[in-house]
Amino acid sequence: MLLPVFNNGVCVFDFDRCDDFMGKKRVDKAIDKLFNLPEVLNQENVPDASGGRALSTAHLHQTHSIPELLNFKNNQLGDWILRRIFESATLLGFNETRDIKRFKYHRTWANRMEKGCEARPHRHASDAWPTPHLVAIYYTQVPELSADLIFIDDDNLELMNGPLLNDYPDCKQHKIESKTGRLVCHDARDLHATNKHLSELPRTCLIIEVGFAPLP
Ligand SMILES: [Fe+2]
Repeated sequence: MLLPVFNNGVCVFDFDRCDDFMGKKRVDKAIDKLFNLPEVLNQENVPDASGGRALSTAHLHQTHSIPELLNFKNNQLGDWILRRIFESATLLGFNETRDIKRFKYHRTWANRMEKGCEARPHRHASDAWPTPHLVAIYYTQVPELSADLIFIDDDNLELMNGPLLNDYPDCKQHKIESKTGRLVCHDARDLHATNKHLSELPRTCLIIEVGFAPLP
């Protein structure tokens, strides 16, 4: 579903088989294994994370590709996510400027946020930094009191990283609730953040950056 968010749209889908899709155990095991790697546990928080601890595999994106590790080509979750990314590319209008049938993963990684953590405002692309085009976020584990995703009304594309979310008034914020099994696809240039994660349990998501080929 395409939701209007300020001057743009954001696509939100819920995977109805998120708790019982074929291959779920293997997917969960592979994600937990990632967060137990010494090179993840020993890495400091990414600069966008503030407050509590945030584990991320972003720095391992070249060697630990999420679609490969989770076997996207051969499981129901991967198939569902890929179809929704394709659908979102049309809903967000990328089909008018790019060949959306041919796309490449840019960085792909997993994030795990612990109590007190929040993601500071950031963009994944801008006019000067044209790729990726689309970002897909799939939430694998979202307990109650989890941080939600917040889009921010700020068209200054030169600003790749904003101040804290609280520095923006409520009227400049649009909340998309995070939820286990939810996929959010947005234009990589949209400024976004999260509010604070307040659960004792971690919140986990996958981030998939996608770039589309030029039109033939
Ligand atoms: Fe992001």
